[in-house]
Amino acid sequence: MSVIRCSDYSDMGRRAADYVFDMIRCNRVSSVALPTGKTPRLMYAFLAGQLRCSEIDITRISFVNLDEYVGLANDHPQSFAYELQKQFFSKIGMKQLAVRLLNGAAQDLSLECRQHEEWIARAGGIDLAVLGIGSNGHIAFNEPGTPFNTRTHISDLAVATTDRIPSSYAPKPSRAITLGIGTILEARMVLLMASGEEKAPIIRRAFHEPPSVFVPASALQSHPCVTIIADRSALRESR
Ligand code: PGA
Repeated sequence: MSVIRCSDYSDMGRRAADYVFDMIRCNRVSSVALPTGKTPRLMYAFLAGQLRCSEIDITRISFVNLDEYVGLANDHPQSFAYELQKQFFSKIGMKQLAVRLLNGAAQDLSLECRQHEEWIARAGGIDLAVLGIGSNGHIAFNEPGTPFNTRTHISDLAVATTDRIPSSYAPKPSRAITLGIGTILEARMVLLMASGEEKAPIIRRAFHEPPSVFVPASALQSHPCVTIIADRSALRESR
């Protein structure tokens, strides 16, 4: 595991963008799993700018998202799919992107989970999984207690997670579709981003204490190629 220590949120966003951009530029990845939430926002702004100004043919990269609230279709303004579209895909300036976004409003959610896994398999697996981390240790929406071998599945959101959903969501989602921990562990490389002191205790527990299903991110300790890009505040309880 390697750790890139950043001075603040902005530095983290820039360095994460540089990391992903270099992976794409050097042809080291052809499929990338993407997070949403507050943490990666600046990374997307920087990365979209870098890709737009480059000669790289981004249409050769397959993108999937990590998770989605159950009940929200891709065009719902509060869906993660919409957020990714707005913050990243629409800013790259290419039309024919290979993207698979989970549909939280699918009639058959089990089928939607299977189809996400099948799409990933057809893409040759995930080369780079970019992750945030919840304050309770969740990665994607794998909440505490999730076995480390799960595939894409429906997750009951933890109270710590639903408490952070803004009240503008009406009703507040209580479930999500999420890539499983097993699916994430099969990614060839993992980049985990974290910012702010509220993440410091969970970063310590996830990476400096023995792995436990009660801290889902601790599953990454067994992964051979994890990079953490985090700011000083998020790392302040880590050696
Ligand atoms: P955040 O969420 O980036 O909004 O802090 C991280 C996560 O829940 O994975």
